[in-house]
Amino acid sequence: MKSSRELFMEHIRTRELSCHCIEVSAIMRALARELGEDEERWASLGLLHDLDFETEKDLATHGKRTADILKAEGYDEAFIRSMLSHNEEGMGVRRESRIDYCLSAADNISGLIYAYALMRKGLDGMEVKGLKKRIKEKSFAAAIRRDLILDIEKAGVPLDKFLEISIRAMQGIAKDIGF
Ligand SMILES: [Fe+2]
Repeated sequence: MKSSRELFMEHIRTRELSCHCIEVSAIMRALARELGEDEERWASLGLLHDLDFETEKDLATHGKRTADILKAEGYDEAFIRSMLSHNEEGMGVRRESRIDYCLSAADNISGLIYAYALMRKGLDGMEVKGLKKRIKEKSFAAAIRRDLILDIEKAGVPLDKFLEISIRAMQGIAKDIGF
């Protein structure tokens, strides 16, 4: 069984996608710590959720090849199911557990924090208040799914707490993602 790091190195080529996966992984690790869940498992899910995105950009198929790779490597069904649920619409796998809601929220908030950091020239000093304004501003990074960010409360994490955790997690990896 290859580690998440090995699979990540093997399948992800572009800097854009590798930064995205590192961000989602860092946020998932921080959420797991907060919730008393398995940090390594949650961080791995974040790192691997978009493993096939460079070849499967079509949402109708995105996730299927990742599932095949993870299955062949011996990753368990619950892990693969959670990965598929981040593309619920395309894969027909519903988000239902805490880890599912956290993955989709992390997937989206990471992009919003990144775009906000570009705008304000860095992650230093970023606060929840400013980030919340960007969430409300629908034209800012318009492709980001606000509904999936707000769904974090279905995982039992208050929105403000989630935003705080996510900002701190991204500040912790600022250098790795070019800030
Ligand atoms: Fe993603």
